[in-house]
Amino acid sequence: MILVNFKLYKETFSDGALKLAEICQKVSKKSGVEIIPVVSALDAVRIKEKLKMKVYVQAVDEVDEGAKTGFISPFQTSELKIDGTLINHSEHRIKAGTIKKMLKNWPKGFKSVLCISSFGQAEGWAKNIKADIIAYEPKELIGSKDKSVATEKPEIIKKIVEKYPKIPILVGAGIHSKEDVVVSLKLGAKGILISSFIVKAKNPEKELLEIASAF
Ligand code: G3P
Repeated sequence: MILVNFKLYKETFSDGALKLAEICQKVSKKSGVEIIPVVSALDAVRIKEKLKMKVYVQAVDEVDEGAKTGFISPFQTSELKIDGTLINHSEHRIKAGTIKKMLKNWPKGFKSVLCISSFGQAEGWAKNIKADIIAYEPKELIGSKDKSVATEKPEIIKKIVEKYPKIPILVGAGIHSKEDVVVSLKLGAKGILISSFIVKAKNPEKELLEIASAF
């Protein structure tokens, strides 16, 4: 499984998001690997309706419905047929208590991808939280062009996989080669989260195909 996080990169503004989501869909069909775009809430519905593919948003808030202004409700998002969301990405932190509350009141079938950035978090607050998927991303390696979670933190990947034997683990941060993915999968990860290497690529389709060929 590959989650491509579009973040707020300019390349994904306006029709850029739709184009990159189309590439995710095309490469997924070609490679047979599940590839899900993780997009801004502003783009999610449009991508879902046009491409009829799985789409996640980058974050939601701890609200359901009612007199709340400017928040993103997981329930509203799920009703619009969006498939899931990241929670607590390093660039969008949420307090552990809030995450717990949020996941207790959660729409059925709406996938939760809980992001953690260290083994300390895996052993601490995160172990009491029930998410569908855990994503390990060491913050300091996010956006790196020459180091990655796979080259710098292989032992932590392994420890997190062992810590959560029943939950699929994704890893991310600095992934920029097929080798990074091969190593991560060998260590027990079920997939990756990737952003800048694909979003900023001259030829995102070519790079994504190369990354997908590791599975
Ligand atoms: O969510 C994925 C992301 O944080 C990793 O970013 O640019 O290092 O692939 P990047």
